[in-house]
Amino acid sequence: MFSFLTKRSRSRKTREDGSQELDRERLPRHVAIIMDGNGRWARSRGLPRLAGHRAGVESLRDIVRACVDWGIGILTVYAFSTENWKRPHEEVEGLMNLLVEYLRRELAELRREGVQVRAIGRLEGLPRQAREELERARKETAANKRLILNLALNYGGRSELVDACRRIATLVARGELDPGEIDEEVINNFLYTAGLPDPDLLIRPSGEMRVSNFLLWQLAYTEFWVTDIYWPDFRREDLRRALLDYQQRERRFGGLKI
Ligand code: IPE
Ligand code: IPE
Ligand code: MG
Repeated sequence: MFSFLTKRSRSRKTREDGSQELDRERLPRHVAIIMDGNGRWARSRGLPRLAGHRAGVESLRDIVRACVDWGIGILTVYAFSTENWKRPHEEVEGLMNLLVEYLRRELAELRREGVQVRAIGRLEGLPRQAREELERARKETAANKRLILNLALNYGGRSELVDACRRIATLVARGELDPGEIDEEVINNFLYTAGLPDPDLLIRPSGEMRVSNFLLWQLAYTEFWVTDIYWPDFRREDLRRALLDYQQRERRFGGLKI
């Protein structure tokens, strides 16, 4: 009897500072973040855009650690889109250098913390050094189980679908797959995220209300959480707020409330 009362009192637990305690049993399995607002953060301080990107790396470090501490299994972060090549050459180059620097500096700690590093996107389009560091990080962390950190690089939701279509069409042309066999599961298996559950929660800092070509297929039933905070200011307490909000959501997946 009264099990609903126990449940309610559990979800109302508060921490020492008065904020609410996370319900560890209702955490999202997969959190996705569009790491946006670095440029505006820098401009608001009279700094060059690259200083914003550099500061954004510190947010990523903090959020990865929080996910490890709280037991979130998968974190996918949008770091560079297929459209971001439109930016000035120096900014693109600066971002690629930051990626290499991040992987070199963080790899030992990521390994220690049980983080498995992966990358999704058209990785062949990245500069050689970035590809090499990603491959090294992937290999050296492949056995880790605590958190899958998926870096979306040269990633576009549309190009991901184009790539999947091409691979599926090749199988059909070779007579290895019947068009009638193509279903959602088959498509899932040809996406860069094959084998991973869809994100439960998408976080977009810096106030923009759009998906900007991120995980178009996978976000079908994802809960959105937007904040005005710029990514370089985003820290684990902001993630906690997002998770607390998420825990109040009622996910219906097109069905009815049970
Ligand atoms: C996100 O920050 C980082 C990348 C897109 C690589 P922005 O650089 O887009 O920052 P804003 O949107 O200009 O503030
Ligand atoms: C999305 O941010 C891409 C990344 C954060 C890597 P953008 O800044 O590129 O997106 P738009 O241009 O505002 O839609
Ligand atoms: Mg932006």
